[in-house]
Amino acid sequence: MNKPKPLVAGNWKMNGLMDSAAELFRLDALVKEGQDAGCEILICPPFTQIVRFAGKMQGGKIMIGAQDCHVSEKGAHTGDISAEIIKDAGASHVIVGHSERRADHNEDNRLIREKTKAAWRAGLVAIVCVGETASEREAGETAAVVEAQLAGSIPQGAAASETIIAYEPVWAIGSGVTPTADDVEMIHGVIRAHLGGRFGDEGGGMRILYGGSVKSTNAAALMGIDNVDGALVGGASLKAEDFNGIIDAYR
Ligand code: PGA
Repeated sequence: MNKPKPLVAGNWKMNGLMDSAAELFRLDALVKEGQDAGCEILICPPFTQIVRFAGKMQGGKIMIGAQDCHVSEKGAHTGDISAEIIKDAGASHVIVGHSERRADHNEDNRLIREKTKAAWRAGLVAIVCVGETASEREAGETAAVVEAQLAGSIPQGAAASETIIAYEPVWAIGSGVTPTADDVEMIHGVIRAHLGGRFGDEGGGMRILYGGSVKSTNAAALMGIDNVDGALVGGASLKAEDFNGIIDAYR
């Protein structure tokens, strides 16, 4: 199977007032001005901005996604948003199982598996997040934790066209610290082997993003590691120049 086209995805988390559209427009302009990037580009703003952002970016290079979805299609779930609503708003992707949701909302692998299925049902690409905590890493459990998360969070029958994995060590998120290149290569190799073992060629073609303190200054090195097929970026996705500097890794 051909090497998958990389994806540089921005996760705005709980940031994005109405005036944040200006940042998106600036990014769009930088992407249009710049050399054609050999990657896909995705921004995941808060739910409230999806319909507007997707409308503005229609036909352009920047895709719009969501940060979470409910497992059900519709119904009595006050305050929740279904994958169908996200799709209807114009999004193409949804992040599921981010470590902040695993921690803040007690999301477990079973729930994340159901959310992944919900994303597929609605016609969205699911970005399934995995990653160990600092204490799990110190205990030498990184590979075992990540493999258990993959086994529990990715449903059977996953296809490369609708499933992306994001490896995000929890201790690297927002900390300015990243694993060594050897560590990233090792764990991405473990993830690839798991995907290949379970899904065959489809697993070989699935993108495995690295996330956690990706910046313009470390992006090229991280993106050059075997089995790193893009980035999931938090803080550095909030400013157009910073995020564009990460996209530069693929120019
Ligand atoms: P960060 O966040 O880039 O700010 O470390 C990454 C993420 O949580 O997706």
